[in-house]
Amino acid sequence: MKKLIINGGNELSGTIKIGGAKNSVVALIPAAMLSDEVVIIDNVPNISDVQKLIEMVKLLGAEVTYENDTLIIDNRKSKNAEISEEYSTSIRASYYFMGVLLSKYKKAKISYPGGCVIGSRPIDFHLKGFEKLGAKIKIEDNSYTITAEELKGTEIYLDFASVGATINIMFAAIYAEGTTKIYNAAKEPEIVNIVSLLNSMGARVSGAGTDVITIKGVKKLERGRIEVIPDRIEAGTYIMLGTLLGNNLKIEGVIKEHLGAVIAKLQETGADLKFVENYVIVNKVEKLKSVNIITKTYPGFPTDLGQPMSTLLTQCEGISKFEETIYENRMRHIPHLNEMGANIEADNCNAKIIGKTNLVGREVIATDLRAGAAMMVAGMIAKGTTIITNIEHILRGYENIVDKLSNVGADIKLIED
Ligand code: EPZ
Repeated sequence: MKKLIINGGNELSGTIKIGGAKNSVVALIPAAMLSDEVVIIDNVPNISDVQKLIEMVKLLGAEVTYENDTLIIDNRKSKNAEISEEYSTSIRASYYFMGVLLSKYKKAKISYPGGCVIGSRPIDFHLKGFEKLGAKIKIEDNSYTITAEELKGTEIYLDFASVGATINIMFAAIYAEGTTKIYNAAKEPEIVNIVSLLNSMGARVSGAGTDVITIKGVKKLERGRIEVIPDRIEAGTYIMLGTLLGNNLKIEGVIKEHLGAVIAKLQETGADLKFVENYVIVNKVEKLKSVNIITKTYPGFPTDLGQPMSTLLTQCEGISKFEETIYENRMRHIPHLNEMGANIEADNCNAKIIGKTNLVGREVIATDLRAGAAMMVAGMIAKGTTIITNIEHILRGYENIVDKLSNVGADIKLIED
C-alpha cells in the first residue's frame, strides 16, 4: 500500500506549476474518440486517471502516444468495443464513453460502477438525455447497453446543472440529426474547454459556459487539437497551503476567473494573495478570520475545494460554518481532522468548525480524492509526523504531488509497504 509521510510545519517557498485539469482531461480523452482522425491534446497531466483512460482508448482500437504532456490519439483504426467492469470500475469518468460510443456507433455497451464514498452519484440525468435523443437503454446487473436507430436533436432540461450529464449529452448529440438544446446546463470552465475541442474537430456547439448549450448535429468530425486548462482545484489546494505556510510561494498557471469564489472567501479570512498575469504569490497569514462556506455549482464555491478548505478553517479564529450542497456524504475527512486535534461538529452535509486549533500528526486515511487533499494540508501544518494511507485516491487528481511540494520545502515522501 502507498502512503504519504509528512513532517509538518515547514515554510513553503519557490514555485509550484499547476498541471492540466483532471476534470477536463477525463472528458477530453473520450471526446477525442468522436473523430475518425488524429486528435492532439496538450498539457495533459500525468495522473493515474489519464493512464486508465489511455488503456480504454487503446481497447477501442486507437493508437496513442503520450510524450511531454502531449497526447496524440489516432482514431483511424478505432472501432466499437464493450467497456468491461475491469476498466469502468477503475475510473468513474468512463461513463463519458456512453455518449461517445452511442453518438459514433449508435451503440454503447459499458458496465458502470455507480456510487462512491461521497455519494450515490447516479447517472439518471445522463440516461434521460440519451433517451430524449432517441436511444433505448437496457440495464442488466450494472451493465448498460445503449442503442439507437437514429439520434434526433431535441430540447433537454437538466433538473440539476450536472457537469457529467451536460458533457455526456453533448457527446451524444454531436451527430444527431438537427439541433439539440440543453437547458440548465453546467457552466464549469471544464465544459468550455471540452466544447473548444469539439468545435476544433468541426462540431457546432455554442453557449458553453452559459446555462443553455446548443448543439447543431454534423456528419463527420476531422482532426482536432486542444490544450487542457489549468486545474483550478489543484491550484486552489496549493493556494490554501500557501495561506498557511507560504513565504512568497509562487503558484504558476492559474486562471484567476476560474477561482473567483475561492479567492473571495480566502480574502475574507485575511489571506495574502497577489495575482500577476497567470500566477499568484501567496504568503502565510498568522491570524486568519473564520468564514462561512456553502458549496455551489460554478461559479459558486466548488465542492471539490470544500474538503481542503475545511482544514484551513481549523486555523481560523472563531466559528466557521460549512455546508456541502452538491454531494450527500462529503465529510468523511472530518473524524480524521478531529483525531489530529481539530474541533469540528459535523453531519454528512454541515460542519461547525471552531478555530484556531493546533493539529498534531498521526496516521490517517484518505477516504476519497479531496478528503486526501484535506489530510495532506492538515499533515503539512500539523506538529510532528502524519502518515496518510490509501493515497491512490490523491494520486488520481494531484500530479507529482510529492515532487511539487518537496521542491518548495515540504518534508514529504511517498513510501510503498
Ligand atoms: C464532476 O462530477 C467532477 N468529476 C466532480 O469532481 C465534481 O465534484 C462535480 O463534477 C461537481 O462539480 C469529474 O468531472 C470527473 P455532477 P460529476 O454530475 O459530473 C448528482 C473530484 O473530486 N447527479 O455535477 O459526477 C450527483 O449525485 C470529483 O474531482 C444525479 O443525481 O458531478 C451529485 O450529487 C468529485 N444524477 C450532483 O448531481 C445524475 O445523472 C453533482 O453531480 C448526475 C449527477
